[in-house]
Amino acid sequence: MKEAFRRIYGAHPEGVWAAPGRVNLIGEHTDYNDGFALPIAIPQHTLVAARKRQDDRLRLHSAQGDGPVLDLRVTQLTPGAVTTWAAYPAGVVWALREAGHRLGGADLHIDSTVPVGAGLSSSAALECAVAFAYNDLYDLNLSAPALALICQRAENGFAGVPCGAMDQLASACCTAGAALHLDIRAGSHEQVPFAPEAQGLSLLVVDTRVKHDLGDGAYAALRTGCERAASLLGLEALRDLTPADLPRAARALPAHLLPLVRHVVKENARVTHAVSHLRAGHLAALGSILTDGHASLRDDFRISCAESDLVVDTALAYGALGARMTGGGFGGSVIVLAEEGRAEGIGVAVTTAFRAAGYQLPHLFPITPAAGARRIS
Ligand code: GLA
Repeated sequence: MKEAFRRIYGAHPEGVWAAPGRVNLIGEHTDYNDGFALPIAIPQHTLVAARKRQDDRLRLHSAQGDGPVLDLRVTQLTPGAVTTWAAYPAGVVWALREAGHRLGGADLHIDSTVPVGAGLSSSAALECAVAFAYNDLYDLNLSAPALALICQRAENGFAGVPCGAMDQLASACCTAGAALHLDIRAGSHEQVPFAPEAQGLSLLVVDTRVKHDLGDGAYAALRTGCERAASLLGLEALRDLTPADLPRAARALPAHLLPLVRHVVKENARVTHAVSHLRAGHLAALGSILTDGHASLRDDFRISCAESDLVVDTALAYGALGARMTGGGFGGSVIVLAEEGRAEGIGVAVTTAFRAAGYQLPHLFPITPAAGARRIS
């Protein structure tokens, strides 16, 4: 990284920062409903080598491309000004300035091992790596959660994606060997020890290679549906409902909104159950919670797809403890929890099933909960 930076910019970087992608164990589409989620960071991450500039130019290069990706003045950063993926890093600088921080330019060189469009939060990893770099370069002294919210603002206000805060909080705040219990309304998070390998379990990621795009309107429509349901019920957010309130909600809501509400309410309860199992050291008990979560996303939220369902069904048929799609939906990745001895057979069975169905073959890899964003040199 440092050598590549020097070749491009003719000077050494001041440091290198890293931020990971994430998978969410449970708690999907709950973040923008003020609810709970339980993500972990994955070992795949984005690196940013950076150097502060004395002027206000923001320059960006990527190991994944040739030539400059971006070269403009930070004062020219306005929503809509950048329409490529560079909107994510540029948006972070915009959001920091919007929040009142007096920032100038920087030279940035980016490299990443987080697969793009796989539902593993490559954009949050990129945003967080840049935010942590700027935080140090300009001595901003912002906390990890504060930087995560800046990144969410970048994505909402600059890149035009109406996401919640889970991905950015996961990338910024996760720690190795733990899942991050997020309470979005309270603005709090707790590290819950999670080491599947210590109990002879494996957590597999299956990237279905069905590309998802949160900017295409379907995600926004779900979010609007949830907000509409909350307002019809006279609530600030769906977080305010418990499963016992569902019969009352069913009487008060138009039929098409009820499945959305049912998913969010039960999903929040699943996060709470999952956390109790983790705290009690009963990791295998997580399995059925994952599978129930998948059924809810498939049948109530209706954001799964044939490929993700095939992974889940095949994994369960070959002895997985549980499996579910993770992330925003409409493709992306599935996580599978299995006894270590079964993981390989499950992987082979999933690949065979994809071949038989004529689908593009999936990418499979095991993960362990990794560290969140940090300076690495
Ligand atoms: C995407 C969004 C998150 C969250 C998930 C669904 O990853 O970026 O904010 O809403 O979908 O849980």
